[in-house]
Amino acid sequence: MESINKINDASSWALWRITEEIGNFFLILDLKKEEIGSYESISNHYKKLEWLASRVVAKYLLEHAGRDYQGISKDEFGKPHLVNQKGTISVSHSYPYVAVIYHHHKDVGIDLEKPRERIFKISKKFLNDKEQAYAAKDTRKLTLLWSAKETLYKLHGRKFVIFKDNLEIEAFKLNSEGFLTGIINLNGKESTYKIKYENRNDYLVSYTVR
Ligand SMILES: CC(C)(COP(=O)(O)OP(=O)(O)OC[C@H]1O[C@@H](n2cnc3c(N)ncnc32)[C@H](O)[C@@H]1OP(=O)(O)O)[C@@H](O)C(=O)NCCC(=O)NCCS
Repeated sequence: MESINKINDASSWALWRITEEIGNFFLILDLKKEEIGSYESISNHYKKLEWLASRVVAKYLLEHAGRDYQGISKDEFGKPHLVNQKGTISVSHSYPYVAVIYHHHKDVGIDLEKPRERIFKISKKFLNDKEQAYAAKDTRKLTLLWSAKETLYKLHGRKFVIFKDNLEIEAFKLNSEGFLTGIINLNGKESTYKIKYENRNDYLVSYTVR
């Protein structure tokens, strides 16, 4: 695992490249009955590895923060919650990497994406006119916009969010790392978030804390 990245005294995140086999993860994790059910519903081998690895990283982050890890449960929207802990967690995977963020008490969101040219083809579906104009055909910018919106979506955690209409990322200059301003606009209420992004091993990671 790459080292833990401390955000502040209450929060940290980590990126992990999967090199282990499934059996090794079972030696580290003590999965609860419901977790075993979720795991067994995954049929793809790599998705199984991602799922297990993200739990191992979550455990590692919590233990590093001096907290006990007792597993992850999902709410009705699919948002992950720590079992018997008031800390919060967010997870992203893109084989062979997984990224996890943890906070002692505030909501978090994280997303990991590998830039691919084909993102341009679907960009009109998730970007408003302003975002389409400033991102143009820049694959990395478009990927970061997608990742930042996924991060906001995970922070919010509810399904009824239209990326194009309810989520907006203000125009930005792309560097190797930096901050974006993201807005969730729902039911006439606007909330603004600072989203950090970083380039790691050809992947873009974005994360935010409420
Ligand atoms: C659920 C979703 C956020 C997952 O994102 P993804 O890029 O496919 O996959 P990632 O690996 O980044 O994230 C997966 C993790 O998201 C988390 N997740 C799922 N639903 C979530 C929710 N409602 N809130 C917060 N986190 C959620 C889970 O922890 C999952 O990992 P796990 O299954 O190991 O626990 C995404 O598929 C989604 O539904 N996005 C919104 C849909 C949408 O409106 N898209 C249209 C835009 S045009």
